[in-house]
Amino acid sequence: MNRLDLAIVLAAGDGTRMKSTTAKVLHEIAGRSLLSHVLHAVSELQPTHTRVVVGAQHEEVTSHLNEIASKAHPVLQAERNGTGHAVRLALEVGAVDGTILVTAGDTPLLTGLTLTELFAEHIKAGAAATVLTAELPDPFGYGRIIRDENDELLKIVEERDASEVERDIVEINSGVYLFDAKALAAALTKITTANAQGEEYLTDVIAIMKADGAKVIPIVVNNFTEILGINDRSQLSECASFMRDRINHALMVSGVSIIDPATTWVDFTAEVAPNVTLLPGTSISGHTVIEAGAVIGPRSTLTNCRVGAGAKVVESHCAGSAIGANANIGPFSYLRDGNDISADAKVGAFVEMKNSSLGQGSKVPHLSYVGDASIGTGTNIGAATIFVNYDGVAKHHTEVGDYVRIGSDTMLVAPVTIGDGAYTAAGSVITEDVPAGAIGVGRAKQRNILDWVLRKRPGTKSAEAAKNVKGSAS
Ligand code: UD1
Ligand code: CA
Repeated sequence: MNRLDLAIVLAAGDGTRMKSTTAKVLHEIAGRSLLSHVLHAVSELQPTHTRVVVGAQHEEVTSHLNEIASKAHPVLQAERNGTGHAVRLALEVGAVDGTILVTAGDTPLLTGLTLTELFAEHIKAGAAATVLTAELPDPFGYGRIIRDENDELLKIVEERDASEVERDIVEINSGVYLFDAKALAAALTKITTANAQGEEYLTDVIAIMKADGAKVIPIVVNNFTEILGINDRSQLSECASFMRDRINHALMVSGVSIIDPATTWVDFTAEVAPNVTLLPGTSISGHTVIEAGAVIGPRSTLTNCRVGAGAKVVESHCAGSAIGANANIGPFSYLRDGNDISADAKVGAFVEMKNSSLGQGSKVPHLSYVGDASIGTGTNIGAATIFVNYDGVAKHHTEVGDYVRIGSDTMLVAPVTIGDGAYTAAGSVITEDVPAGAIGVGRAKQRNILDWVLRKRPGTKSAEAAKNVKGSAS
């Protein structure tokens, strides 16, 4: 089988229109940088070499490249003298024979399938150059594909260099090309900077090859959204929604129920099993895994979480946590990093948890903060319980055993241990360990000062109400 010898990804551009402190190709869609999307598609062709031309914010881009594709070779283009110049520099790294792919780092919707088909056509035709083109509803800004009377590709003209007649052409250059290595190297020696931008245009090699009698073929992409490039944040959001639709479609075909695909955002990096239901307004990001039968949403965010089969997460924000099978989270729970919620457990309304484990079937139903705690099985944490884990300097751990009943409004001042089967009295401030089977009572004894209201608040409605009771009683 023919193999791609070199892939060149152009990513040196300044990305001025992003108005961003982050390099353009590092902006993210569906949990991956634009550059990473492109490299994923390119990797489906298994190129022998991959070279990424970097320039603007090149340190940042290069270190990201090392993380996501350590085998790809960064090529520094110190001055942006155009796409032709960028490709020339990439070729100078080392001689390559055979077939070369050139693509841009800012077209994240391009698929490996389209590249594979393009490669097959290029090889079959024995072409010197194959250009992926598209027919766009609004071709503004793109290079136009100029064909001759036989419908053959003649040249590519940039928007700024195009005549009025040429600007009316809706077939555009996607910026994705396959080249015969020798033909490309030869043509690149002939390009000039005689154009509106004073740059070396890669696109000029097409007319040069054509004049040399070489075979250059245009191939129209099936779905034009694949070649959309990102120059500003409006296009970033447009591409993100196309990607969201693509991901959601694939999930639904695989058996995931998505009630409102327009408001459901699932990252590439997440795994959602068949028979999961995603309710409106839900975001699943990072390395989240959701097992069969779970119901997520409405309006829930899961980042780097594992959700077991049949669990429910309602109106909640969860990060870096494991949620066991058939557990119930929410509405309005906040799981911060490091929680391990066991099967059948419950975390309820207005409960924040951090770095804590909750045993099987245990419940924290209402209005509580649980930080740095281990809670056993079958335990109930009463409403408004606070795990007081921070003394202003350091964090401390709380241990709560099995089948414990923590009374409402208990303060568990860490470090402290509550033994198996123990209780705490409502409203207690627990500063010492409670042994198994004991009840910890840590509150002042109540005293009633009789007739205080009648003496101190005479003439108020409260005093009148109290007087009526006293009157009828006497
Ligand atoms: C380019 C094409 C145009 C095509 C469009 C598709 C040229 C001359 N024009 O135009 O025909 O329709 O892409 O999106 O090629 N880059 C470098 N170094 C440079 C200049 C650019 O690495 O010196 C990179 C950019 O980072 C970007 C890509 O090349 O990833 C394309 O450059 P850009 O300036 O966006 O070209 P367009 O004007 O969009
Ligand atoms: Ca562009």
